[in-house]
Amino acid sequence: MYKIAIDGPGGAGKSTVAKAVAAALKITYVDTGALYRTIGLYVKQKKVDPSDAQAVTALLPEIHIELLYRDGTQHILLNGEDVGDSIRTQEISMYASKVSAYPAVRDFLLSTQRDIAKTQSVIMDGRDIGTVIFPDAEVKIFMTATAENRAERRYKELIDRGVPADYEVILEEIKTRDRNDSTRATAPLKQADDAILLDNTGFKLEESVDAVLKIIAEKLPETAK
Ligand code: DC
Repeated sequence: MYKIAIDGPGGAGKSTVAKAVAAALKITYVDTGALYRTIGLYVKQKKVDPSDAQAVTALLPEIHIELLYRDGTQHILLNGEDVGDSIRTQEISMYASKVSAYPAVRDFLLSTQRDIAKTQSVIMDGRDIGTVIFPDAEVKIFMTATAENRAERRYKELIDRGVPADYEVILEEIKTRDRNDSTRATAPLKQADDAILLDNTGFKLEESVDAVLKIIAEKLPETAK
């Protein structure tokens, strides 16, 4: 069994790449951002101000989160209900970025993340996987791209889906989230000393997947066929 950690800022393509790599290696993909998004969703449902650390912390005992896998796809149950795509909005991105700064929230999600790797090989993406969750991960990759390139991809993705989008607004949101995620006191986004940097600015999706598979094959030759 082994653990692959992929950390980096929002919009670098970590989840899409990690999903493809998980399928290629037949291991489990864990999207940890979705866990923070789920806490953000609950905070919004309860009409609590995500900037109020005490009020957010007080909600935690009411929250029960379960990770389920159906046909290889991760599902999150929030108090028994599948959150589905409701956690994928820009608004919930900002809620998640805010609530994830609180140590109580990070502690709350720690065992959910660690337990899943006890019984199976995983590729997990987030902000602190290689630094805090699995400092002993066999492979650590820090995946990033310029803010402009990440905003451009997000913009294209929305336009392709027929969703109206404004590039400048997206770029500002990406920069704000970068700032929140990397300046917080607890588990800030930063490259682990032993992580390999992958700057995929200008890469096509397949190029990022190939680059990650190559790094993994070098570190874990048994995964290369
Ligand atoms: O990867 P994402 O965009 O779905 O993550 C949403 C937010 O959750 C992100 O802005 C920061 C936070 N997050 C975190 O603090 N630690 C992680 N391991 C994953 C996400």
